Amino acid sequence: MTTPSATQYPQMNQPILGIPKENREGETRVAMTPDSLKKIVKKGFRIRMERGAGITAGYPDADFAFDGVELVDAVTALGAEVVIKINRPTVEELAKMKKGSLLICMLEPFAQDGFIEKLAQAGINAMGMELIPRTSRAQSMDVLSSQANIAGYRAVLEAATRYPRFFPMMMTSAGSAKPARVVVLGAGVAGLQAIGTARRLGCQVEAYDVRAEVKEQILSLGAKFIELDVGEEGTGAGGYAKELSEAAKLRQQQALTERLKKADVIITTANIPGRKAPILVTEEAVKGMRAGSVIVDMAAPTGGNCPLTEAGKTVVKHGVTLIGATNFPTMMPSDSSSFFGRNVFNLLGLMLDDKKPSILTLNLDDDIIAASLATLDGQVRFNRK
Ligand SMILES: NC(=O)c1ccc[n+]([C@@H]2O[C@H](COP(=O)([O-])OP(=O)(O)OC[C@H]3O[C@@H](n4cnc5c(N)ncnc54)[C@H](O)[C@@H]3O)[C@@H](O)[C@H]2O)c1
Repeated sequence: MTTPSATQYPQMNQPILGIPKENREGETRVAMTPDSLKKIVKKGFRIRMERGAGITAGYPDADFAFDGVELVDAVTALGAEVVIKINRPTVEELAKMKKGSLLICMLEPFAQDGFIEKLAQAGINAMGMELIPRTSRAQSMDVLSSQANIAGYRAVLEAATRYPRFFPMMMTSAGSAKPARVVVLGAGVAGLQAIGTARRLGCQVEAYDVRAEVKEQILSLGAKFIELDVGEEGTGAGGYAKELSEAAKLRQQQALTERLKKADVIITTANIPGRKAPILVTEEAVKGMRAGSVIVDMAAPTGGNCPLTEAGKTVVKHGVTLIGATNFPTMMPSDSSSFFGRNVFNLLGLMLDDKKPSILTLNLDDDIIAASLATLDGQVRFNRK
């Protein structure tokens, strides 16, 4: 990366883009798929793709056999000037990356493990896809949304396969079945998709969010809105929820417990960025649910919305199946990779200038680039607060 003068932005001239194979356990996605790569190649860029990188996502090497893409080994892909990954690199991968290269991936910036500092020390300029602001202009680059959408859909399907009864109402010659009563807690991106999916499967759906402004979206999907007075405003900065006081948390848990006992399926997604997930489904609520009911705790990676959830596992407690899966997008790797790749392509578009083909410019006056660039020229730019 060159910074010609203090008034100009860092630029890369005809950088080669490397796409390594993901090697985190359980990861099935690949950062770029043929559809987005073809568009990048049309812009004049050359790609070094690690052999076999797309196989688990349903894209064999043959799908990448077009001009502009070279199939290489891991060291060569990681040694490219721009490295695009799903997950942040391991320390071993980092050692293979070039000083001054640009890394684009999910950086997990809130994990306080010194990794961002290591990137800066290694002279890697790192962009965190999760740091992209949640604004209308950035929507097409928002991996949190694209992956949460897939997760919300898949969570309902997982619940349906574990639930020992029908989801829709059924009338057969052998008798009829009532529709499943589904409660969705947290109506952000994943929650709204879960509501829509459960409705399409014929369930009766109720949903709750501490941000009162989502009521209309819940109603527009054909679900009922659960009104609770917790005595406090739940909306925080940037359209996210804020953490409630201890008294309000208790009021919320007590008010929800009686309602949740009547649910057949709970899909819970409540999160507060950078914090432990709030407890919404108490053990008492689980005990009150009828045997065979299912809870999908999509907040499992941040501690869970139910204290009985075990992250990464499916367990049965008090006769209720608790799904603590933390990897829903990896269960649908073809679409989740394709969406991720399109998000990255749209981000790269911000760095391109049609008048200067093949030059990537980090315009630090662009709020999306400025916010997502966690390290630059050996310095950490990301502030955890
Ligand atoms: N580009 C954009 O404009 C854009 C894109 C995506 C999301 N957004 C907005 O960002 C916000 C967060 O979306 P997300 O899906 O990433 O959210 P998230 O994953 O951080 O949280 C999921 C949901 O849990 C809710 N929640 C938190 N604490 C709760 C509690 N105690 N009780 C009940 N619900 C609780 C939140 O309000 C949120 O709706 C939303 O307002 C969404 O509309 C904007």
